[in-house]
Parts: sequence; C-alpha cells; structure tokens
Amino acid sequence: STPLRLGIAGLGTVGVGVVKIVRQQAALLQARCGREITITAVSARTRDKDRGVNISQYAWEDDPVALATRDDVDVFIELMGGSDGPAKAATEAALKAGKDVVTANKAMLAIHGQLLAGLAEGNHRSLRYEAAVAGGIPIVKSLGEGLAANEITRVMGVMNGSCNYILTRMENAGLSYERVFDEANALGYLEADPELDVGGIDAAHKLAILSALAFGTQVDFDGVEIEGIGCIKIEDIRHAADMGYRIKLLGVAQMTGRGLEQRMAPCLVPATSALGQLEGGTNMVVIEGSDVGQIVLRGAGAGEGPTASAVMGDVCDIARGMRLPVFGQPADTLSSAPRASAAVP
Ligand code: HSE
Repeated sequence: STPLRLGIAGLGTVGVGVVKIVRQQAALLQARCGREITITAVSARTRDKDRGVNISQYAWEDDPVALATRDDVDVFIELMGGSDGPAKAATEAALKAGKDVVTANKAMLAIHGQLLAGLAEGNHRSLRYEAAVAGGIPIVKSLGEGLAANEITRVMGVMNGSCNYILTRMENAGLSYERVFDEANALGYLEADPELDVGGIDAAHKLAILSALAFGTQVDFDGVEIEGIGCIKIEDIRHAADMGYRIKLLGVAQMTGRGLEQRMAPCLVPATSALGQLEGGTNMVVIEGSDVGQIVLRGAGAGEGPTASAVMGDVCDIARGMRLPVFGQPADTLSSAPRASAAVP
C-alpha cells in the first residue's frame, strides 16, 4: 500500500509533538493503519529555530496555502491557529484541492465550522479536529462515533486548562486572581491573547463545537452565553469552599424545550463531585446520553503529547480510509436550533 503523506503547517508545541510521534511510533502506526505514515513538507512562521526536532529532511514552504495544495501531500495538518487568515485560507485550499484535513483549530471551527464541513463533504474529503476540543481527551470521537446511537441530553465540562489552573492555584495557595494570572502568563500557560482563556472565549469555542456534534445543530458560537473568570475574587473562592463548593469555569450545552442552551460561565460545583475535584490544567467532559447514561472523560486538555496524540488519532482514521461526516451527520442536515440561552435565569 502507498504511504500516507502529511504536510504540517505550524511547528509550535503541537506540530513538534506530531513530528515526534510520526518518527517515534512509525512501526506502531504502520501496523495499526496498514500503511506507512510520512511527513513530506512543513511550514511555519520561522524556518531556522531550535525546536528540539530536526526538520531539515522535509520540504519547506513559506506559504501554508502552497503547502496545503502540494501534489505530494495527502493530508494537510493545520496547527497554526486563528479563526481566519492563513489557517482558514489554507484549510479551504486543501479541501478544494482534494486533500483531507486535520486541524487543532477550535476558533476556526467554532466560527466557520458549517462552511468548512460543507466544503469537506462536497469534495468528499475528511475534516477531522479531535485536537481542537479538550486536547488529548477523545471527546469528538466519543460523541461522533461511540455514542452515535444516543440522543444526547447534555454535554458539560471544564474545557480550558488555563482557567482551571488559575482557579485551583488561587484556592490552594490563597493568592489573588491578578497574582496568579501574572504567574500563569509568565509560565506560558495562557494563549498569546490571554483574554481568549480568561474571558471564556477559548472554552466557548470548544463548547460550540461539541454542541453541534451532540445535538446535530449548526455550530453557533454567537449563541454561547459567555462569562469569564476575571471577576472571581479569592473571597468568592473562600466562601464557596466554606459551603462545600468550588468555582469552575463550566460549559454546559443542553437541548431544552425552548431550544439549544449554551453557557460558559464560572459555576459553583460540589467540592466532592468529579468536576469539583479537578485540579490544575486538566480538562473534564461529562456527557449524558439516552441509553449510555452518564460518561465522564478526564485528561490533559493541552500540551505537546496529549494534543499531538489527538491529531495523530485523526491521521490514523484517514489512513484507514474512514470518512466520517464532520459533525456526526452530513453538514446539509444540521439544523439551526433556536437559542434558549437568553431565557435562562
Ligand atoms: N489555553 C487552552 C487551555 C489551550 O488552557 O485549555 C488548549 O486549548
């Protein structure tokens, strides 16, 4: 069988993790997928930079669109980030050129998911994005495949590790929000624009994607009611603890009689519950389905290994010839659900 040839755009933490897995797990990947997986070309903002992996054997492209449309690339791996700009241009170009796409880009999918899903399915290509939501946790596969026979009643969870780190560190060390924010920023735990994390936007992107998968609706990021953690004071955390609760930036998506409710906001959760015991930069997603009951998935929501693991899981699906609908059902059948969020007290 012919090798599956990858083109990777973006060589930050996740891109480097993908390069390492392709190299270090070559034999395992070949055995499991039935074909060799190779990297043919890469692209990033800076070519010469010490990344801890040698990329000199791969072809280099300055322009991600050129990378995405190369004849020797079968799968375009988009790890640049940003909802628009080069990431979207290259993803569209790849799908139109008949390439499958794997992306970790939650902002792009939350905002342009419907357009891109239509493009992928219209061109009979895969668009896979397990790494976009909750890093290493296989939540997209769980909702889209393993739980495909369930009517999903609710999806909720902690989907931003940076915020969970800040909230648990404030509580455990008795430090102010400002102090922990600065500390987390200095440690590189926050997005380049930290407001994406602490404003709840990054987590809301993820929730909007999960809602579409869970409820068969068009991705509706504008329909997510969002409140960040910037207003949380150490006193709030102490009072919550006195009553047996902890404060978590919690996303909840559920279909109500009034329509789809999507909320991302700091919430009180019982300290003894699974969500209440979640420490540091970890993520947790709780799914409730008609037949399966409740499922709790917990793991690293970011980082080199976990996020690259999710990217490569998608690559394996493609290598095995699986072509799944982007949001669990054909894009042209996704309903535009009425929003219920405005009516929620
Ligand atoms: N800043 C994000 C988080 C990165 O902490 O969850 C992963 O999306």
